[in-house]
Amino acid sequence: MPPPLPLLLLTVLVVAAARPGCEFERNPAGGLEADEALPSGLPPTFIRFSHHSYAQMVRVLRRTASRCAHVARTYSIGRSFDGRELLVIEFSSRPGQHELMEPEVKLIGNIHGNEVAGREMLIYLAQYLCSEYLLGNPRIQRLLNTTRIHLLPSMNPDGYEVAAAEGAGYNGWTSGRQNAQNLDLNRNFPDLTSEYYRLAETRGARSDHIPIPQHYWWGKVAPETKAIMKWMQTIPFVLSASLHGGDLVVSYPFDFSKHPQEEKMFSPTPDEKMFKLLSRAYADVHPMMMDRSENRCGGNFLKRGSIINGADWYSFTGGMSDFNYLHTNCFEITVELGCVKFPPEEALYILWQHNKESLLNFVETVHRGIKGVVTDKFGKPVKNARISVKGIRHDITTAPDGDYWRLLPPGIHIVIAQAPGYAKVIKKVIIPARMKRAGRVDFILQPLGMGPKNFIHGLRRTGPHDPLGGASSLGEATEPDPLRARRQPSADGSKPWWWSYFTSLSTHRPRWLLKY
Ligand SMILES: *[C@@H]1O[C@H](CO)[C@@H](O)[C@H](O)[C@H]1NC(C)=O
Ligand SMILES: [Zn+2]
Repeated sequence: MPPPLPLLLLTVLVVAAARPGCEFERNPAGGLEADEALPSGLPPTFIRFSHHSYAQMVRVLRRTASRCAHVARTYSIGRSFDGRELLVIEFSSRPGQHELMEPEVKLIGNIHGNEVAGREMLIYLAQYLCSEYLLGNPRIQRLLNTTRIHLLPSMNPDGYEVAAAEGAGYNGWTSGRQNAQNLDLNRNFPDLTSEYYRLAETRGARSDHIPIPQHYWWGKVAPETKAIMKWMQTIPFVLSASLHGGDLVVSYPFDFSKHPQEEKMFSPTPDEKMFKLLSRAYADVHPMMMDRSENRCGGNFLKRGSIINGADWYSFTGGMSDFNYLHTNCFEITVELGCVKFPPEEALYILWQHNKESLLNFVETVHRGIKGVVTDKFGKPVKNARISVKGIRHDITTAPDGDYWRLLPPGIHIVIAQAPGYAKVIKKVIIPARMKRAGRVDFILQPLGMGPKNFIHGLRRTGPHDPLGGASSLGEATEPDPLRARRQPSADGSKPWWWSYFTSLSTHRPRWLLKY
């Protein structure tokens, strides 16, 4: 008989971090209605709500990054087929570096070259973030201090040129949609969804972090697609949105139906609840997506709150969102910004007004759920450890620094951390309905393979009140009674039994622990 697995069970109570309602609105454009040329006296906060050619886009992003040099920088993730840099502007308290436990978000526009609203929204957003940070907007400061945000306004700059040559109002439905090789970039990613459906039928098989099949490389892979995949391998993205045009709706994975012969069919991921929540974070604060009047476009989505499962809308293979979810830790939604793919310039300011709050609100949802670090008993980070949640068959893995982020909807969740050679650690977390900061849940993994004697010795050494060794936690039910767990700490007003565990992890007292 194998030795019993030293399962550890801890009760973690997460409460909402009260968030002062201190957002204040400022006119970021300083007279944006007046489009007159202000050659010298132009305030740096001025945003020109116009279309941007490739050269203009590059100039604005570079200028913005240098104006906000302490919180922004630009970098290229590669080149388009015709050789244009795929330029990203990044915002972070330490640009260029991943910081421990700081979640990373990406927003991608113009993947279809003729769908240009997203490109402009991200160019404006970059300027807005920079200006508001400098002006001291506490919401934006907090956001940039706690989040690393990457904006790629144009994933398909070559297609854009084709579409822009026709111009707004003249652009057909498809001119410039593809890249310069005539590839649709949102059909060019590896189809991992078919593989997922196979794995999901197999008991015990892992259906996350699915490798790219060899045969994918035999086909035509666009340099833009390759650049995105490489980008995703170098940065531990948690959340992403891809901005499109042609309708007014937010869609979420899967995009590829379980039954390919069906044109459309509801095909949820194991994270259906979270994806709905993420999509609503965008749609619910978007005045046009919520508009019930006649003049709204894409009205057929109104009954669903302007969100829809991608495959339930129309199924397609090789999309970017399915790939994000099935190959990495990143959750990506698709936003259709409006019915006009190439809006006239006059419409751009209104579009920005409609999408600004949605974009901010969406990015802020990266702080939902839990995050933390997984270390061994010496405090050494364990990378590639698996973070599983009971009832959601989709594991998240830790980044090279041992940090992880697990987006989770409100409720009670049983979270398990494991890595080869270590015993599993199980914790219970409660995610409150309102939450603006991810609860911190760290895991310390104990090596497997110690004899039972050594193991018991280890227990004695750590003392009865330390949950790492506490006999009460050993072999206890994996589904604890939440009410019992709630009552457990504090009958006498003293610290709960697991308190020392958390306080010993860091010098910071975890503020989100519920005290009695
Ligand atoms: C953000 O960080 C800057 C620089 O460390 C600091 O001055 C500012 O007070 C912080 N703001 C918020 C809201 O956290
Ligand atoms: Zn599109």
